[in-house]
Amino acid sequence: MCSECGTHHPKWTGQCTGCGEWNTLTEEVISTGLSVDVSSVSAPRARSTDARPPVALDDATTDVGSVRSTGIAELDHVLSGGLVDGSVTLLGGEPGIGKSTLLLQVAHHWNGPVLYVCAEESAQQVRQRAERLGAIRPNIWLLAEQGLGEIADAIDSTTPSLIIVDSIQMISDPVVTSAPGSVAQVRATAQFLVNLAKRKSIPLVLVGHVTKDGDLAGPRVLEHLVDTVLSFEGDRHHSLRLVRAVKHRFGSTNELSVFEMTGDGLTGVADPSQLLLADRKEQIPGSAVVPTLEGRRPLIVELQALTSVAPPGVPARRTAQGIDQSRLAMLLAVLARHCGVPTAATDVYASAVGGVRIAEPGIDLALSLAIASSIVDRPLPPDLAVFGEVGLGSEVRQVAQPDRRFAEAHRLGFKRVIAPLRSPDPADSIELIRVGDVGEALRVAGLT
Ligand code: TYD
Ligand code: MG
Repeated sequence: MCSECGTHHPKWTGQCTGCGEWNTLTEEVISTGLSVDVSSVSAPRARSTDARPPVALDDATTDVGSVRSTGIAELDHVLSGGLVDGSVTLLGGEPGIGKSTLLLQVAHHWNGPVLYVCAEESAQQVRQRAERLGAIRPNIWLLAEQGLGEIADAIDSTTPSLIIVDSIQMISDPVVTSAPGSVAQVRATAQFLVNLAKRKSIPLVLVGHVTKDGDLAGPRVLEHLVDTVLSFEGDRHHSLRLVRAVKHRFGSTNELSVFEMTGDGLTGVADPSQLLLADRKEQIPGSAVVPTLEGRRPLIVELQALTSVAPPGVPARRTAQGIDQSRLAMLLAVLARHCGVPTAATDVYASAVGGVRIAEPGIDLALSLAIASSIVDRPLPPDLAVFGEVGLGSEVRQVAQPDRRFAEAHRLGFKRVIAPLRSPDPADSIELIRVGDVGEALRVAGLT
């Protein structure tokens, strides 16, 4: 079984055909028999004791049960109000991003007893962090154990109204023979804890580490078991952290929460665009500002490109930070083929400033302008924002929710926006320049 994505393989191979990772196959011994007894197929099935009859759709309630605030407004926002009793939330993120910090803050603000299973750290280490955060209060119970039995006992003895397990990859079920963190172990332990939380109607938060590509490792298999998957993103070397709901059974997945990592923990950021533009220097070539949409929340991000002539005989370097590498390659090809911008023998370094990662195509046009601006060595007007998707024929395509993007650009003081042809008129007094292709955008931006 692949330890990254959980794909089954009948024999060992070097590369997983499911996710393409190398050397990730491990042998997992599955003890349950797979053969089916034919006579059992038509035998009656036992009913669970709390079975519910079918309910008519028009009579069904939309009430999900009681939602409890986490005590952190910015986090409640992405959870559509808070944690639902008996629900299971997976918080995924790279090591060191701040998952334990955030959950310790949740434990501190939670209204009721909390069981914090610190399977990765000792109680002393957690206490030290809590002191730093000023997050010490009675009724937060630390359990530095990794076994399911110990966790179940601790739940009985401390009767928490919130359970935090940090992290699920460290927990092991003695019944399962594979190592902690393996797919079989993660699945078994998570299933056990999910059942426990549902039975006792206590909200449960699981921490899961992710791989370098940002996928939930091992926990890929977890995504189906839990109600909510929160993804904790950001660059460890920057202070900005984004929390978004990748899956949410009790609300929208369009919300985004923004935090700043400070000396005393994570604080919610009310105006992330302002923060992202704080260090911007106007009048430098290679910089373009784009109003992006992260879910429903608009975010103004500065894109930067730096280009230089590649040494002869050496393939040109293309480095992208916070931006999709293949998208960058595509835009460079469009600029060269359709707009006469020489990108072929040019090293290109492109990045989204502030450690944010943007996957939406609405940044294409702004990135193209940033690259062209660096190549011709002329800055874009400082009061200009740009958005639009770029197609292979260099046409500029419409993207979602242009009105929100206009509003955010206007709010941050931008006077002009270059946007796709079919954009509606902006509500605010902002000059809209509609363009049909990248060449036109380069002209109106004064780059050709
Ligand atoms: P942590 O919550 O341990 O990350 P994770 O659980 O996701 O692995 O956070 C680790 C980083 O956060 C660490 O590099 C130190 C930093 N940090 C702060 O900057 N301020 C703080 O108040 C705390 C507690 C941590
Ligand atoms: Mg941690």
